[in-house]
Amino acid sequence: MRIGLLTGGGDCPGLNAVIRAVVRKAIDAYGDQVIGFRDGWRGVLDDAFEELTIESTRGILPRGGTILGSSRTNPYKREDGVARVRETLGAHNLDGLIAIGGEDTLGVASRLHGEGVSVIGVPKTIDNDLGGTDVTFGFDTALQIATDAIDRLHTTAESHNRILVVEVMGRTAGWIALHAGVAGGADVILIPELPFDIDEVCRLIRRRHERGRYFSIVVAAEGAAPRQGTMEVARENSFDEFGHPRLGGIGYALEQEIEQRTGYETRATVLGHVQRGGTPTAFDRVLATRLGLAAIDAAHDGRWGMMVGLHATEIGLVALADAVAEVRHVPVDEYRRFGALFG
Ligand code: F6P
Repeated sequence: MRIGLLTGGGDCPGLNAVIRAVVRKAIDAYGDQVIGFRDGWRGVLDDAFEELTIESTRGILPRGGTILGSSRTNPYKREDGVARVRETLGAHNLDGLIAIGGEDTLGVASRLHGEGVSVIGVPKTIDNDLGGTDVTFGFDTALQIATDAIDRLHTTAESHNRILVVEVMGRTAGWIALHAGVAGGADVILIPELPFDIDEVCRLIRRRHERGRYFSIVVAAEGAAPRQGTMEVARENSFDEFGHPRLGGIGYALEQEIEQRTGYETRATVLGHVQRGGTPTAFDRVLATRLGLAAIDAAHDGRWGMMVGLHATEIGLVALADAVAEVRHVPVDEYRRFGALFG
């Protein structure tokens, strides 16, 4: 077989482990040829590619990022996008494509499959918000980075009797905020799924002071938002090709609001892209490798239009269309259960 491979959307630790697993099994077990497209869908549109071999993918397992590059290019934003995708796949005589991505990249893959393109999806995102899989690789690494940061912020918060606000990634799903907040013993956790009440945030912080704890840690997902009309948050007005706004700003807004309302010294730390960089955890390397192996097997079984995913402890297949139908949010009940630990 001749297989194309691409990585799209925000990068994520573990992408190289998938690439390595696909290439190794494709070449060694099946005698395939594999080409990698540069920078996600942009490489398919512009026919920018490189041949992937066992030699060229050696040593990449522990490396963060993606050797293929990534972008948020959307073929459906170009009039001739689908035609160009077909043209490139045809020119390379490809039997099919393996697309590694999140809701946007796999959303494109799903639509293309609906138009007759042979594609298999591999889910990735540090946000852990994709359907069709119990967890996405990259999440465990981001979670560990955020938890380490919270641990570090704890000691300095305590030394200075400060309120420290930590802004973590998570556009519409608060998985990183919730899990890193719980693992790091945060006093307040704010997630996009539930608009927060700034009065309640300040009440929890004041209560700690009354109990003799003069510092607090507030973890906020970048997509967390106050109840309408209760607090100003300056947001940037720019959007990517999939219509997602550029987020950020909630951490600094909370810094000002908490300090003004409580009188306690407050500082914000925005973790940003640190959460996406560097070497993947062992868990993410293993999960990414299992998904890569399953993806190339699925291609040989002709399971086009499917996505590989982790279901309990097994790797299984789901229709791409089902996987991208809805974002997987933090269940509000689960969030509320952890509320017993806040403040
Ligand atoms: O890939 C997911 C993500 O890391 C989100 O958590 C975040 O909102 C977004 O990407 C940031 O995107 P970019 O790197 O393009 O600014």
